[in-house]
Amino acid sequence: MTEGATRVVAIDGPAGTGKSSVSKLLADKVGASYLDTGAMYRAVTLAVLDAGVALDDPAGIARVVDAVDIELIPNGEGSSTVLLGGRDVSGPIRTDHVTSAVSAVSAVPEVRTKLVALQRQNAQGRFVVVEGRDIGTVVFPTADVKIFLTATPEARADRRHKQNLAAGRDSDYAAVLESVNRRDHLDSTRTVSPLRAADDAVVVDTSDKTLMEVLDELSGLVEARIGASEL
Ligand code: DC
Repeated sequence: MTEGATRVVAIDGPAGTGKSSVSKLLADKVGASYLDTGAMYRAVTLAVLDAGVALDDPAGIARVVDAVDIELIPNGEGSSTVLLGGRDVSGPIRTDHVTSAVSAVSAVPEVRTKLVALQRQNAQGRFVVVEGRDIGTVVFPTADVKIFLTATPEARADRRHKQNLAAGRDSDYAAVLESVNRRDHLDSTRTVSPLRAADDAVVVDTSDKTLMEVLDELSGLVEARIGASEL
């Protein structure tokens, strides 16, 4: 990889398409860093909840995001430690409490402005696989590779449900499906940066594919676009 060049593989799509798992493996396979932008929105959401600011108070949310300091430190295991004001919040940002509040917080324009700037700064001069919702459309519209992962709501809810059970968490399939549909609706109908595939993204439906099949397909795309010799 050319020293100092910024190379971006943008991976967007709704929750439960296997985005996180495949993005981490892909970054490892092609020798890139991995940037989880959802973790940044989750960290701001935790700060909002901790500050006791209501989710229907965009001005209050904007004040919180103005003051927060978020850092993602690669942890050497393919993912990142998320620091909020220097505190490790990698665990707390994954709780249901944060998950159910994150769509409201991520719809506030000031939140997006600050985090988009942070994401661009993080990628500067590096080869990165960036996972999110608006990476190919807004954050890196000139990304080298743009991938949009999709899957049926049922397949996505089924994955989340099995992940919950495997992690020892209580889970009810019908409730998970309802939450998947609710988040899809909020994320795709918000005014600022709604979830949608970029016109030049390659859309990959993961409903009936294994993680390894998706990984092979995506690494093939990266090699074709960036060139195996450069990786
Ligand atoms: O990928 P995730 O489930 O950790 O993302 C959490 C939430 O953050 C998701 O509901 C939408 C929001 N998000 C966003 O609006 N833009 C991004 N680039 C990444 C995530």
